[in-house]
Amino acid sequence: MAQFIPVDPFDLVIFGGTGDLSKRKLLPALYHRWLDEQIPDQSRIIGSARSEMDTQAYRDFAKEACKSATGDNWSEDEWEKFSALLHYVAMDATDDDADWDALKATFGKDRCCIYYLATTPRIYVGIAEALGAQKLAGSHTRVVLEKPIGTDLASAQEINDGVGAVFDEHQIFRIDHYLGKETVQNLMVLRFANTLFEPVWNRNAIDHVQITVAESLGLEGRADYYDKSGALRDMVQNHLLQLLCLTALEPPSSMEGDDIRTEKIKVLKALKRFDADAALKYSVRAQYTSGTVDGESVQGYQETLSTDEKSKTETFVAIEAKIDSWRWSGVPFYLRTGKRMKSRHSDIVIQFKETPHSIFDTPVRQPNRLVLRLQPDEGVQLYVQIKEPGPGGLRIKSLPLNLSYAENFTVRYPDAYERLLMDVVRGNLSLFMRKEEVEAAWEWVDALIAAWEDADAPLETYEAGTDGPQGANKLLWHNGNRWWAGET
Ligand code: BG6
Repeated sequence: MAQFIPVDPFDLVIFGGTGDLSKRKLLPALYHRWLDEQIPDQSRIIGSARSEMDTQAYRDFAKEACKSATGDNWSEDEWEKFSALLHYVAMDATDDDADWDALKATFGKDRCCIYYLATTPRIYVGIAEALGAQKLAGSHTRVVLEKPIGTDLASAQEINDGVGAVFDEHQIFRIDHYLGKETVQNLMVLRFANTLFEPVWNRNAIDHVQITVAESLGLEGRADYYDKSGALRDMVQNHLLQLLCLTALEPPSSMEGDDIRTEKIKVLKALKRFDADAALKYSVRAQYTSGTVDGESVQGYQETLSTDEKSKTETFVAIEAKIDSWRWSGVPFYLRTGKRMKSRHSDIVIQFKETPHSIFDTPVRQPNRLVLRLQPDEGVQLYVQIKEPGPGGLRIKSLPLNLSYAENFTVRYPDAYERLLMDVVRGNLSLFMRKEEVEAAWEWVDALIAAWEDADAPLETYEAGTDGPQGANKLLWHNGNRWWAGET
């Protein structure tokens, strides 16, 4: 039976309250947690944006968002009760002369107040400064920053310093929604709640690690943002590096506050920086051309842009990363992510080394492999070698010990934002990124971007609906490896 930690009533202001993130993620997440009786009725959720609308219109907007996220279990009665928590204030939150009194009038007394900045990062500092000027940044407040936090180290520092001049670091919650995914949290449990893995979780037993986040979707109306960003900034700087950190970190002394974050920063700082030669040898960038995804023809990346100017933005990146530490010396961490790939799947594959000596005449077919399937079909598979039954000599086969979430748990699968929003309310920072973490990740990414420029790194192409460019396969071949494709 799930145990819920009760929280006191709180106020949550969503700046950018009418935007896509609020609609698709934040409002449905809050509604689900209210249904789970985790949000006290006296709490207030205040949407704020520049669009003129009244609270009733905002409730209608939120209803549509929550209804489409809830599916068949919709209850009009429950909705009526939840919607009483919702308010709307139209304002430009970067403007000192905006109607701040209208916002203040929605606040309850003596309670924690959270500001969720679901706006463009360009105005994070402006909003923080305005909150400071309005004396709305006291010790009872918290601020949540959505990714991307900057577009490089300098702009990330500008945001961190600007917001940090108003709020203390312990009041700042930098979100990477991958950390709220159930299976990502399970990675910590798997590693640190079992004795089995820690003794082999190092260079002595592990040959290499593969981290893949493949998407079948394209740009989904975000071409303006994406073309300036590309896969490295959009996905690797945050989600993939976070997955790498959780796979590679040293055991933290607890799950509390800074213990995990401190260990993650050590991993990021130990990542080997790229120079031009290394970038050419150990990374691949590519852009998709037209093709077929899920049986439907899709345009190439260039055709989805509203300009004829040739874009050099990568929609796919594969990298062989190295961590300079005792635990991981010589163990490649292969990272791969792309848009418009064959299917949507994210997994972490821990490929163990071959046995040191074989006593069997037949070769041992495959070394052990641990596959953490993050999405979809969440689960864990540990491939072991077994003897194939029956006559015909001793034949060895690699088969998985298979732990499927769907087969073992019937509970509703919460969206990542639910857990993260409730952690902000509880004041638990462990799943949020510290300033140094974001900056260390940008430092590594900036070095790779500079190395690509120095080396004039080629932009390969791959057909939409495939596993990416040929170069991504070659990246592994030089060590005699290949990407795991779901087979044994
Ligand atoms: C976002 C990226 O952070 O993560 C998107 O900006 C990407 O480009 C998305 O599609 C992937 O998240 P998920 O949870 O669908 O894997």
